[in-house]
Amino acid sequence: MRNIVILISGGGSNMEAIVRASRAQNWVARHGARVASVISNRAGAGGLELARRLGVQADVVEHRDYSDREAFEARLLERIVPYEEPGAPVLLVLAGFMRVLTHGFVQQFDGRLVNIHPSLLPAFAGLHTHRRALQAGCKFAGATVHMVTPELDSGPILAQAVVPVLHGDTEATLAARVLTQEHLIYPQAIAALLGREGAWDNRADASQGPA
Ligand code: GRF
Repeated sequence: MRNIVILISGGGSNMEAIVRASRAQNWVARHGARVASVISNRAGAGGLELARRLGVQADVVEHRDYSDREAFEARLLERIVPYEEPGAPVLLVLAGFMRVLTHGFVQQFDGRLVNIHPSLLPAFAGLHTHRRALQAGCKFAGATVHMVTPELDSGPILAQAVVPVLHGDTEATLAARVLTQEHLIYPQAIAALLGREGAWDNRADASQGPA
């Protein structure tokens, strides 16, 4: 079985969309994959309770308890490593996770670390994407699912969704419109990634060869 670990910092609505899609589409049977764990860097994140209600293991690694990024990430790794299975590395999914990860950490998950960003990358990498899109007078906004590489918000694009910017939009109304699309494209992009890689249980069986 391939375990998916989702990192969150806030409400966890993308996490919920992924968990619900994984069940509705039976990722266990299709891809040999399941959402095994949710980890938040904030104890107060609403997504923790939501994950527990969905029956997913939910833990906190509070970043403020650690003196630097490396110490925080070392603890995070300790929480992730138990989900690695022989021949089936964890797929790490950032879903509203608001900490920048070190190059070393990102490289450790090379090819198996994905993120969703609420803009049409490469436009508006970084924070306050909706405010910046409105200030720039954009007629369209959107969201991007991408592989994570050491440089912030710049890895290969897996999926994008576009929404119109409407007259009178505020940061909040635009964010809400984009978020509805995030909930669609993030599970789709993860399923497509898992599909490209093949079912992990089958792969493990095949590599064992004839008994
Ligand atoms: C999403 O818009 C995500 O793209 C951004 O923060 C928001 C998180 O929402 N980075 P949620 O925690 O998934 O509800």
